[in-house]
Amino acid sequence: MKAFTKTILGCALCALGAFTSVSFAAPNNAAVVYFTLLHNREAGDPNGVGNTQRVAQAIAQQTNSQLMEIKVAKLYPPTYDETVDIGRDELDANTRPAVAADGNPDVSGYQDVYLGFPNWWGSYPRVVATWFEGQKLAGKNLYVFMTHGGSRFGDAISDLEEALPNSKIERVIALNDRNCRNMSDEELAQEVADALAELE
Ligand SMILES: Cc1cc2nc3c(=O)[nH]c(=O)nc-3n(C[C@H](O)[C@H](O)[C@H](O)COP(=O)(O)O)c2cc1C
Repeated sequence: MKAFTKTILGCALCALGAFTSVSFAAPNNAAVVYFTLLHNREAGDPNGVGNTQRVAQAIAQQTNSQLMEIKVAKLYPPTYDETVDIGRDELDANTRPAVAADGNPDVSGYQDVYLGFPNWWGSYPRVVATWFEGQKLAGKNLYVFMTHGGSRFGDAISDLEEALPNSKIERVIALNDRNCRNMSDEELAQEVADALAELE
């Protein structure tokens, strides 16, 4: 892949008045598609920023890409533990929760897609499968990022490779949820920049 030289004027660096050049091969002008629980549960916060969303925003900003969100049609319950149990049931039954009308990103115009989601029981939330099965992803490049509570990528990459054998799948970053919540914008931007710099 052609190497780009990207000048990162992240918010943090701008704030510092700094000007940093980083060389990496991460695709620009891509789609950044993500799912985050905060926007998909009762008593969630549609205006809040979920963990995976935070990473998605940094990737979109640094690669000049289009941010898009997957949303479920039927919200998860307000309690976290109940949602954890439902997530397990959905994985076991390999269900396909319906996507919301305004949460079904069309990536037909993009060759490169950054796809991000929280680790749910070692894999991707099943609504992500509902979404990708509705898209034509064969021949596209998928750059996967995740947030997690300790399991990092889990089996998500191999599960995606199995489900999407005709897509090129590469991992970008798996960020711990505590780090996601506690890192400053500057720290998070740097983590993401470092991960993007590793892409081949
Ligand atoms: C249904 C469910 C299952 C989860 N399973 C795992 C898991 O197996 N391993 C793990 O490390 N974290 C797990 N987590 C924690 C989330 O991956 C983590 O908190 C993530 O950062 C949440 O991202 P979000 O705010 O974008 O939804 C789970 C969370 C939920 C709601």
